Amino acid sequence: MSTIENQAAFLTAVKARPLQVGPAPMPTPQGSEVVVQVHSAALNPIDPAIQYMGILVPADGYPYVPGYDLAGVVHAVGPDNTRFKVGERVTGLRSEGSALGGFQLYAIPSIAAKIPDHVTFNEGSVLGLGMTTAAYSLFEKTTLALDLPKPGGNKPNGKILLVWGGASSVGACAIQLAKAAGYTIAATASAKNFDLLREIGAEYVFDYNKDGVVDDIVDTLKDKGDMAGVFCAIARPDSVLLQCAAVSGRLGGRRHVGTARPLGFPPIADWPEGIEVSDCMPGESFKSGVVPAIWGDWLEGALADGSMKCKPPYEVVGRGLDAVQGAVDLMGKGVSAKKLVVEIAQ
Ligand SMILES: NC(=O)c1ccc[n+]([C@@H]2O[C@H](COP(=O)([O-])OP(=O)(O)OC[C@H]3O[C@@H](n4cnc5c(N)ncnc54)[C@H](OP(=O)(O)O)[C@@H]3O)[C@@H](O)[C@H]2O)c1
Repeated sequence: MSTIENQAAFLTAVKARPLQVGPAPMPTPQGSEVVVQVHSAALNPIDPAIQYMGILVPADGYPYVPGYDLAGVVHAVGPDNTRFKVGERVTGLRSEGSALGGFQLYAIPSIAAKIPDHVTFNEGSVLGLGMTTAAYSLFEKTTLALDLPKPGGNKPNGKILLVWGGASSVGACAIQLAKAAGYTIAATASAKNFDLLREIGAEYVFDYNKDGVVDDIVDTLKDKGDMAGVFCAIARPDSVLLQCAAVSGRLGGRRHVGTARPLGFPPIADWPEGIEVSDCMPGESFKSGVVPAIWGDWLEGALADGSMKCKPPYEVVGRGLDAVQGAVDLMGKGVSAKKLVVEIAQ
């Protein structure tokens, strides 16, 4: 009888490099958990930040397996699981607070959703953190408090959301979530990414590199409908957030800038009076009902009918766990409208 063994790419100590590939415990699903055999894992800016800056992992949290976004096949289900069957194809997001993330052969995600046959594992792996971060900032009562998208999508409501940084992972998910919820989307990106913004549902597109972009946005949108707010998918520098505040102040409607800044970041200097601002802690949305509404009720249908696309597009940058360190280093250099993916299963 063959015994299946797990392996992981470990961060063995604070700021250690390279990641060490070696045997890992084979996870056993408890309650409603699922074990996923990881086929593809996508990179996020937080992956190099954790390794290079030594952030987020508590001193006693090593060895730590990084990796947030994954897609693969359900390998085992917990005794209370009624949603998934062994062999189903899924996308997932790492478990908050667990030392064991997506850069391993078998992982337990904190949340998962089935992906339809036309969505490959590489495509399915790009959604997890970007979508969950966007969902927090758009739909929580303490953030932009937009209407949630319902299965099948909502009727257009005529309200406009500006997404600043629409070619980022978080921004591309925000555009699609808000569009499905009925909002008209305006978005910023570099001009070379305008086609992507339009493909995923933006009606008005602006180049944030252009002088006078705030004036352009205000001039274009001022008579197009009520503003539902601004979502800044770019966490820093503060000058970007101040541009969002300027748009919000001048266009009126709901004067609120939801951001992708982690909760606990220092206040933004010179923030204008009268504009609300909210920061982001996606893990909280597991308790509020937003994550279940998006991952549980909406995502599978939206992937099936194409209203949610797996964007930005992926680029495979390596195969196998030994390739993860190189992928983390590439992610550390930054990307444009791209999700870096490692094909984990050989
Ligand atoms: N709070 C949280 O828990 C949480 C979770 C995830 C992410 N985040 C934060 O959310 C942000 C986005 O993350 P991500 O994974 O989506 O990043 P990403 O995909 O790596 O972002 C890259 C994109 O950012 C865009 N960009 C850079 N500067 C910009 C600017 N001044 N204005 C508009 N767009 C700009 C670029 O657009 P062009 O290529 O078009 O120039 C590029 O495509 C990051 O700051 C990240 O730290 C926070």
